[in-house]
Amino acid sequence: MVSYQKKYIAYKSRVDKRLGRCMSKQEPVSLCEPVSYILSGGGKRIRPLLVLLACEGVGGTVEQGLPAAVAIEILHNFSLVHDDIMDHASTRRGRLTVHKKWGESVAILTGDELLGLAYRELLRTKSGAIGRIVEIFTDGVIEVCEGQAYDKEFETRHDVTLLDYLQMIAKKTGKLVSVSLELGAVIGGGSAREVRALREYGTHIGRAFQIQDDYLDIVANEEEFGKRIGGDIVEGKKTYLLLEAYRRARGDDKKLLHAIMMNGGTSRRNVPAVRAIYERHGVLASAQKEVAQSIARADRELKILKPGPAREMLYWFSEMLANRNF
Ligand code: IPE
Ligand code: IPE
Ligand code: MG
Ligand code: MG
Ligand code: MG
Repeated sequence: MVSYQKKYIAYKSRVDKRLGRCMSKQEPVSLCEPVSYILSGGGKRIRPLLVLLACEGVGGTVEQGLPAAVAIEILHNFSLVHDDIMDHASTRRGRLTVHKKWGESVAILTGDELLGLAYRELLRTKSGAIGRIVEIFTDGVIEVCEGQAYDKEFETRHDVTLLDYLQMIAKKTGKLVSVSLELGAVIGGGSAREVRALREYGTHIGRAFQIQDDYLDIVANEEEFGKRIGGDIVEGKKTYLLLEAYRRARGDDKKLLHAIMMNGGTSRRNVPAVRAIYERHGVLASAQKEVAQSIARADRELKILKPGPAREMLYWFSEMLANRNF
């Protein structure tokens, strides 16, 4: 049997090697140090993996896909650095966030620099479709910003529905995942049908991925997850869990959730009580079910791809995402 885990590590190390080279300067220190810090601080590298698998899945090569794979990872890191400022997060990938270590001004500029580095890397793609590639990537940047805006707006809104939430996560998270697959498919020379199927696969695993992230915010092991547990509750994020629990809860449970909704968050000491409410009303189990359904939906898109190792690995990948605990 093929060890997909081993293959994943091999793809990851190719991406990491190239990522390490994209910040070759050492000065200005106040910019280069945090950029290197975030790019070399681990991370699952799932987006670049998806670029490469999509590229191979339609008959392209890893070499062709590598610049775009690295570009999308840099773009993702840009969104994380700014997201951590916006979410008041103190840890990421088991280390201090950039703004906690160097301050907000440095973190803002680090994000800006990463965006530039991402484009520089993307433009190294050798393809006759470079205009389209840059357009797909740019649409990704714009939608992530829109998604992040909704995410913040929702913190202080009391009328957010599950549908609003799903639309918001499609933008803040799903889009970059589907862009990864679409880029890989275009660079690899895929047919219109293949490009579409891979993009749709990305949309569905992207949804699963964010619901799982919201779920892990409350159930994960802090060390494995690398982020502080309960952050979404403290910040008043309108996650799947909070919205569903609010809909199901009654009495005191409802009162506490109502206060979180109205105040745009709560004190950290209420996190265990909220977790207990989530358990009592079965929303953790429901979230897992949603994840599994989105994954199954995603996998259906892969049917039209040519059978082969890349497609098999995509099936393995969706399964792994649904069961991840980090
Ligand atoms: C975190 O993304 C942000 C979300 C979209 C949930 P990842 O979970 O891919 O973060 P890293 O890159 O592996 O650290
Ligand atoms: C991730 O949302 C969205 C982006 C970073 C664009 P989260 O705010 O849930 O991500 P984490 O949990 O901080 O990684
Ligand atoms: Mg956020
Ligand atoms: Mg966050
Ligand atoms: Mg999160």
